[in-house]
Amino acid sequence: MFDTHSVKAEVLELLASLKGYCASRRRAGIQSGDRYKPANPQEVLTQTTTREHESQEVLLQKVRTELGECTRCRLCAQRKHIVFGEGNPDARLVFIGEAPGADEDLQGRPFVGKAGQLLTRIIRAIELKRSDVYIANILKCRPPSNRDPEDDEINTCIPFLHKQLEVIQPRIICTLGRIATQALLGTDRGITELRGTFHLLGEIKVMPTYHPSYLLRNQEKKRETWLDMQMVQKEYFKQ
Ligand code: URA
Ligand code: URA
Repeated sequence: MFDTHSVKAEVLELLASLKGYCASRRRAGIQSGDRYKPANPQEVLTQTTTREHESQEVLLQKVRTELGECTRCRLCAQRKHIVFGEGNPDARLVFIGEAPGADEDLQGRPFVGKAGQLLTRIIRAIELKRSDVYIANILKCRPPSNRDPEDDEINTCIPFLHKQLEVIQPRIICTLGRIATQALLGTDRGITELRGTFHLLGEIKVMPTYHPSYLLRNQEKKRETWLDMQMVQKEYFKQ
């Protein structure tokens, strides 16, 4: 069957490739009027984006190496795995949760438990795949019994998230729940007040919404989350 979603995704991917290609030409000092013409534009586009992609991947790997087998805070004592984050190193949209739970701690991957399955469905609902976006948390280690993060744990850990965001340079961030929203935006205003509109973090548009775990317990809040996600989707697919 003719799949409009995948056609749309391909067109968007091609546009993203073109953007990367133009940026690399600008960096190389090539003006649009210059004579240089690649023999096979499609091949060059692919090579260029692959290279750019790799470099962001390498830069993220450098942040991971700097983090190391972190013992900067008390959470190292009980964690099984550091959950660094995963996804597209060149993502236009990044989701940020609070901290790994039991499943994430076991697997070393973000949002893979029940809440993660709901997040995956939310991502699909805006016509994206998990591999299109990047997913991370404010804390990279699980707090015992999933207690709230302590301020000093956030202060110690968040610089690494900031470094990841500097590499990825997303256009949009969706923060999941109160803790992630407050930590990223540096505010103590509540999630109900903050959700539903974009907040600027430098040039990045930040949309706070409810945490998927909260949605699992409060199904009636899904409607508001859907409104938030429709704004994210519109911004994502905007030219
Ligand atoms: N909840 C979070 O905030 N993050 C995860 O990675 C999983 C559950
Ligand atoms: N409280 C939270 O911490 N997160 C939500 O998403 C809603 C209420």
